[in-house]
Amino acid sequence: MRAIKNSCVMAADELGGNPSPWVRRFAGMIPAGGTTLDLACGGGRHARLLAVLGYRVEAADRDTAALAALARVDGVTVLEADLEGGAWPFCGRTFSGIVVTNYLHRPRLAGLLAALANPGVLIYETFMLGNARYGKPSNPDFLLRPQELLGRARDAGLRVAAFEEGRVDRPKPALVQRLCAVRGDLDAPLDQPPTICRATSSTPPGVRSSAVKTCGVPKLR
Ligand SMILES: C[S@@+](CC[C@H](N)C(=O)[O-])C[C@H]1O[C@@H](n2cnc3c(N)ncnc32)[C@H](O)[C@@H]1O
Repeated sequence: MRAIKNSCVMAADELGGNPSPWVRRFAGMIPAGGTTLDLACGGGRHARLLAVLGYRVEAADRDTAALAALARVDGVTVLEADLEGGAWPFCGRTFSGIVVTNYLHRPRLAGLLAALANPGVLIYETFMLGNARYGKPSNPDFLLRPQELLGRARDAGLRVAAFEEGRVDRPKPALVQRLCAVRGDLDAPLDQPPTICRATSSTPPGVRSSAVKTCGVPKLR
């Protein structure tokens, strides 16, 4: 195995799929030091991204098999929980960064926004109304209404750093809404890629060295 120090070394395989460009763009705004949350993390592509950027991550989902693989990742703690039924598992806790992608459960949205620390950064991206013409999800319960994330973030007292809604063609045609919002007086650069990197001691298992790239930002295939 090839030893690599002080570099961000990451391939899509190791991240459990390609992180969303939206999350990659804003992840570096999350303040250092606290714990971040990847809510409904699935395979954990964003939990892994956050971990490799040097953040402590809690990754929550009900999918036991996905969490089992994620639990082996340095810097990631997994929480198996039903995020929709029963008690809210994050009661009384706050997170310096919250990432949610491709997931919406409206009844818990206010509680989720309240769990953003001060200072803290929320990065959210999921499908919106109209997506049914492209495929799933098509149930309106799982689709944001026009401008909904924007309104919810402002109602929660967050400052909106970036918001977009509309059609994307990759990774598949879909109608999405994306938000990055900040709580508190956070002086984080908008225009610099994330550079905090966890030192990686060796080429990750199962990743061919030819597939590995090194730089200040995680490189994805
Ligand atoms: C479409 S996947 C998105 C995964 C990940 N955020 C991503 O974008 O790669 C939705 C995730 O929500 C999780 N999920 C759905 N309902 C849930 C619930 N009631 N409690 C916990 N997790 C749930 C699923 O297990 C799944 O991993």
